[in-house]
Amino acid sequence: MGRGGTGKTSFVAIMAKYLIGVGETPILLVDVDPDQNLAEMVGVDLEHEGIRTIAELLTETFIKKGGTMQGIAPAERIETTVLERGLYEGDAFDLVAVGTKWIEGCYCLPDAALKGALLSLTKNYRYVLIDSPAGLEHLNRKITTRVDDIFDVMGPSHKSFEHVKRAYRIIQEVGIAFENFYIVGGCQFTETLERTVEEETCQQYLGRIAFDPLVLESVIAGRSLLDLPLGSPACRSVVQLMERAGYGRK
Ligand SMILES: Nc1ncnc2c1ncn2[C@@H]1O[C@H](COP(=O)(O)OP(=O)(O)O)[C@@H](O)[C@H]1O
Ligand SMILES: [Mg+2]
Repeated sequence: MGRGGTGKTSFVAIMAKYLIGVGETPILLVDVDPDQNLAEMVGVDLEHEGIRTIAELLTETFIKKGGTMQGIAPAERIETTVLERGLYEGDAFDLVAVGTKWIEGCYCLPDAALKGALLSLTKNYRYVLIDSPAGLEHLNRKITTRVDDIFDVMGPSHKSFEHVKRAYRIIQEVGIAFENFYIVGGCQFTETLERTVEEETCQQYLGRIAFDPLVLESVIAGRSLLDLPLGSPACRSVVQLMERAGYGRK
């Protein structure tokens, strides 16, 4: 998680590339960002694949035309719907996108059914990577109440420090249990900020994602970040970050 434009989605994509490379599969990628560009960054065109967002499926299942609630369907029903129509299944990874409508109307949707569906879905994977913007901690709680590691990708501004503290507090307030909270410097993070980041935030700093022209180019051209060369600066720095966080040694 982290503020907009800090490099969260590309980090998740390159992290997926890393996990695939070391054979830590199967992986589920969950896109919670309303921007919904995780699929594109891993080379998947959801519309072309005929995959619907969870928001769309929930709306169809639970809300009648006109906006009134239908009788709450059993959790199994939405689970089957998500599995059949909302899950992209690839060779190396699967992907679900939450979609924007859910965020707008989340207060009226049956959280228990959704959480049940996602819980049973996530059990099938070795790793579940969630791409989530800051400020959606409440939404995250509907996806899971337990995660292993949270990576907060920080931008270059001093405001980012406040955001990290706020995000950490809200995560605790909404009751998401986690093992580790790590700070990652986005590609615009500076050495000056690196010197003070741990002291100011009281959180562990893992390191910076290197600026990589190939990432920029790939995003502009709509190319998958999974196809970046392993030796590219961004990939190399993500490998280092992952190893520092204890991945690849389990
Ligand atoms: N390591 C990097 N090197 C160079 N540019 C990057 C890097 N990571 C991200 N970017 C650029 O920053 C933009 C925002 O990155 P993105 O991962 O979409 O951020 P977020 O998900 O936090 O909004 C990308 O479109 C890309 O152009
Ligand atoms: Mg993003």
